[in-house]
Parts: sequence; structure tokens; C-alpha cells
Amino acid sequence: MADNLLTMQQINTPSTLSNETVLRVEHLTKIYGERRAVDNLDFEVRRGDIFGFLGPNGAGKTTTVRMIFGLITPTSGSINILGYAMPTHRAQVLPYVGALIETPALYRHLSGRDNLRAIGYGLGGVSEKRMDAVLDLVGLGTRAKDRVRTYSLGMKQRLAIAIALLHDPKLIILDEPANGLDPAGIVEMRDLMHRLSAEGKTVLISSHMLNEVQQICTRVAIVNQGKLITVAAVDELLGGTDVFLVKLERAAEALALVKAQSWGARASLNAQGDLVTPAPNGRGQDLNAFLGRAGFIAAGLAQANQDLEQVFLHLTNSMAGDK
Ligand SMILES: Nc1ncnc2c1ncn2[C@@H]1O[C@H](COP(=O)(O)OP(=O)(O)OP(=O)(O)O)[C@@H](O)[C@H]1O
Ligand SMILES: [Mg+2]
Repeated sequence: MADNLLTMQQINTPSTLSNETVLRVEHLTKIYGERRAVDNLDFEVRRGDIFGFLGPNGAGKTTTVRMIFGLITPTSGSINILGYAMPTHRAQVLPYVGALIETPALYRHLSGRDNLRAIGYGLGGVSEKRMDAVLDLVGLGTRAKDRVRTYSLGMKQRLAIAIALLHDPKLIILDEPANGLDPAGIVEMRDLMHRLSAEGKTVLISSHMLNEVQQICTRVAIVNQGKLITVAAVDELLGGTDVFLVKLERAAEALALVKAQSWGARASLNAQGDLVTPAPNGRGQDLNAFLGRAGFIAAGLAQANQDLEQVFLHLTNSMAGDK
């Protein structure tokens, strides 16, 4: 297989992309019937990124990664991987891309290692050394001889990632790799993402669990209803204005009042029905005083560390406000 591989130099040659751009998506759109599953997306993934592609259920994440991997054809727009247009140059590009999209097919009666061996045959043979390396990388070195049916869900997910890594791709696309995992499984998955990044891989990871991935991602694109809401470095998104979390009765009325103020336009209610809002002058006491003057008594007020979920709510609220 190595003979078929172009060098990085060659693969960058036909490109107008900078050396740092691994994937570029422009005006990407997929329409099913009347539904715009993916609507005019633009974003770029750079070498070494752990790039989060984030959004709630139905946002268009799987549709997008399936287009990027060449499994379905875009209605319009373009995808460029390492300088090559997809899906036109799928054959040239695929040696550089590994993907875990939807539930992987594993042989439950075979060991983890024999699963790799079976897939390896399909790739024209993979060395024992390479299998050892990927099994260690995904943390399955000590369980490689056990049958897959004895594996936890997290172990199966990691084995599937090992399969995606067998041919040593530069770009790895993982669609919801933490789906269904318990907290310990999520921590292991997070560690694996860091190891992949340390190995020099570029990782695109989709997730609806915004707060889970904010800890591992360098940059994120947030999507909702097929549309891009923002693409930015995580630090940049989290470093905005301080927000406060206020517990109070008649929170919906308070929200309406706060949203009418210049400083409160991006306020929202969280899942618990608490008011989450910036404060006048950025000061909690000024917020408390404002609410008090309006007849609201705050039972609790705390500065909330911004997380991506709040950023998402603020951004979607302010977009709705713009209409
Ligand atoms: N093959 C299809 N035919 C028709 N509609 C589709 C098809 N695939 C996806 N859709 C629709 O496109 C939209 C985006 O779906 P998609 O699966 O990409 O979302 P997602 O962000 O991956 O969601 P989830 O978090 O639930 O996995 C949804 O409204 C979905 O119903
Ligand atoms: Mg999906």
C-alpha cells in the first residue's frame, strides 16, 4: 500500500491551500426533499487541530461528516482535503483519512486483535507491529486477545478507532465517539483524543455534548439546523463577558425584562429554569439591584463559568433576536 501513497509534498502541490489547512469546506449544502440538512457551511480544519463539530440532535453533523468522507454527495458546495477536491479525488484522499461514522461493524466472536487482522487483509495486509501500535494507542494493548463480545461499549468504540487508524491516516473523522459512554468511558475517550493529537494527527470530532468536548477541542464549529453559528477557538468563545446564574421565581418574566436591556440581550433560561445572563456593567451586584428594583427577589446569584452550552444558547438566542 505504501507504494500507492503520495508524499505530503506531492499532495500539497495541486492545492491553493496553505500548508496548515487539512480540510476546507465551502458553501457545503445537502438538501433532502424540502429539508436543508446542511445549509451553506464554511469552515476549515488546520493541521494539529482537535476540531469539534458541535451541535444538537439533527443539526446536520452526521450528514456533514458523511459528505467529507465521500459517503454521500453534496447538493452543492465544495470539500477539499489536503489540497484535493472531494469526492472527485476520493481514491487519492482516502489513504490519508480514517473515519468512524455511525456504529462500526465488529466481529463479536473474534478478539480485538483478530478484528484488526481481518480488516487489515482488506487493506492488503497490516504488520503485527502496526497492530500493536494502534492497540496501545487506543489503550487496548492488554485486552487485545479477548473476544470483542466481552468488551465494554467504550472498548468497542476504541477498537473501532484503532481500525480507523490502521493505515496511519493524517486526518481522523470521528462521529460522536463518546455516544452512550459512561463518565469513565468519556474520560478514556478524551485521553485518546489527546494521544492522537500528540501523535501529530488532525482530529475532527462531532458531538452533541458541547461541554464534554470543550475540554479537548482546540477549535470548534457550532452548527444548528444545518447552519453554522460560529467557528472559533474554544478559548475565544469561553473568554467573553461574564455571565451570572440567578435563581428566582417568575424567571420567564425576569428574562423578558433583562432581554430588553442593552446588556441583557443574550440572556436565556437554562434547563433548570434559572436565568443565565450578563450583568449591567458586568457586575453581579448591579444585576441584583436591577432585579430588586423590578420586584424580583433573587434566591441565589452566582457567577457562572461560561461553558459551550451557554455560549450556544446565547448565540442561538441572539440569532433569533436578529431576525
Ligand atoms: N437520508 C436522509 N433522508 C432524509 N433526511 C435526512 C437523511 N439524513 C439526515 N436527514 C435529516 O437531516 C437532518 C440532519 O441529520 P443528521 O443526522 O445529519 O444530524 P446530526 O447532527 O448528526 O444529529 P444527531 O445528533 O441526532 O446524530 C435531520 O433533520 C435528519 O432528519
Ligand atoms: Mg449524527
